[in-house]
Amino acid sequence: MKKPKDHLIFPLDVSTYEEAIRYVALLKEQVGVFKVGLELFVSIGPKILEGIREHSDAEIFLDLKFHDIPATVKSAFMAASAYRVAFTTIHCDEGKGLLRSVVENNPSNTKILAITVLTSLESKDLKELGYQERYVNDLTELVLLKARMAKDAGCSGVVCSGHEVDRVKKELGKDFIAVTPGIRPAWSLKETDDQKRIITPHEAIKRGADYIVVGRPIRTAENPIEAAQKVLDELEGAI
Ligand code: C5P
Repeated sequence: MKKPKDHLIFPLDVSTYEEAIRYVALLKEQVGVFKVGLELFVSIGPKILEGIREHSDAEIFLDLKFHDIPATVKSAFMAASAYRVAFTTIHCDEGKGLLRSVVENNPSNTKILAITVLTSLESKDLKELGYQERYVNDLTELVLLKARMAKDAGCSGVVCSGHEVDRVKKELGKDFIAVTPGIRPAWSLKETDDQKRIITPHEAIKRGADYIVVGRPIRTAENPIEAAQKVLDELEGAI
């Protein structure tokens, strides 16, 4: 039986080793998965992965959101697979063939999650990008299209917003992992936030998210441990 902490992913969205490890040491009792994204990995490289392992028992999500020509993504993923992390991410936009060839050549246990539609995007952005009207009018349809593609290609799951997660789980099955960012506890809402398709931790888990990514509400809180604990308390009631 999973504990609330197992569902909580904390993104280490900082640029120095010291700052990242400070959060790992601070939040290791509350967080089940630490996410290393582009900012941290580009700034300091793979030594952060060893640092996280030294300072906690948490799993690691290496969120590099690969997006390039198939040959480059395959080679980059091969390199990343050597780090033995729990999860990594690839954008869906280069098509099923790319996703499948990476999945089929995965030499590790690293689970491949496909990025569907970033939670910072909304309908007007999709229109500007030239998407068909049916997707502009119903973003969930676009997320489902990409999620189906990811499942067909053999990916372990997807990253999608809390607004689509129930449809994704219903259609693609409970074993198809859904990671949901864009989480905002009611107490953390700010007008200046760039995340658009947001949802509370409780609601995300209720709708079927396997993991929630909660960054700024914890990181910018006066007391990050207390904020993370409040998120866990909220999850406890939803599991
Ligand atoms: O909670 P907060 O907005 O601070 O979380 C930001 C984190 O969520 C970043 O690490 C970002 O990469 C991640 N994210 C994601 N997928 C999205 C949107 C955000 O992984 N679709």
